[in-house]
Amino acid sequence: MTKKTRPIRTKRRTVRDSQVEMTQLVLPNDTNQLGNLLGGRLMEWMDIAAAISAQRHSNRVCVTAAVDGLVFHQPIRLGEVVTLRASVNRAFGTSMEVGVSVIAENQLTGARKTANTAYLTFVAVDDHLLPVAVDPIIPLTPEQKRRFGEALRRRTLRLRPLRREK
Ligand SMILES: CC(C)(COP(=O)(O)OP(=O)(O)OC[C@H]1O[C@@H](n2cnc3c(N)ncnc32)[C@H](O)[C@@H]1OP(=O)(O)O)[C@@H](O)C(=O)NCCC(=O)NCCS
Repeated sequence: MTKKTRPIRTKRRTVRDSQVEMTQLVLPNDTNQLGNLLGGRLMEWMDIAAAISAQRHSNRVCVTAAVDGLVFHQPIRLGEVVTLRASVNRAFGTSMEVGVSVIAENQLTGARKTANTAYLTFVAVDDHLLPVAVDPIIPLTPEQKRRFGEALRRRTLRLRPLRREK
């Protein structure tokens, strides 16, 4: 696929404009026999939160191109409340890197833990499923600027094997 269209006009879009916070209660149907949240269910929630963020930034349908850095730091238990935070770290040509962090909360004790983090790459597509250019994102805070810089380094590593194949 090579045909790409440019956005009609470039909007000033900050990270905050497309941030997403999504909350889920871990129910029995979400867990394995040990009462821990299924990894696949968590990945689904992360994909959805990240997709909403990418689509909010680009105003396009976005497809998942890659997932990396997915680490399950700690198990999440039945009955815990899961908060997923997703934000676009950087927009490139037609793709965006979205960072997602997952916090699990035990509502009986009030304890919170960072259970999971990942970087997902989404590509904005048009009605013919062709990649389409997205607006750049403007990082404002020091943390957003750090993520913006690191996103470029991760992209280089991510795309290196693909370039070797071509
Ligand atoms: C993602 C997809 C649209 C890319 O199409 P393509 O023909 O490879 O397009 P291009 O080579 O022009 O690349 C388009 C963008 O995708 C990025 N890309 C492609 N493959 C990638 C990968 N494996 N990881 C990260 N980015 C990738 C390119 O870097 C480029 O981004 P840029 O414009 O910001 O530089 C296409 O591979 C696709 O439709 N994949 C299936 C998506 C899907 O079904 N997802 C659901 C998950 S099951």
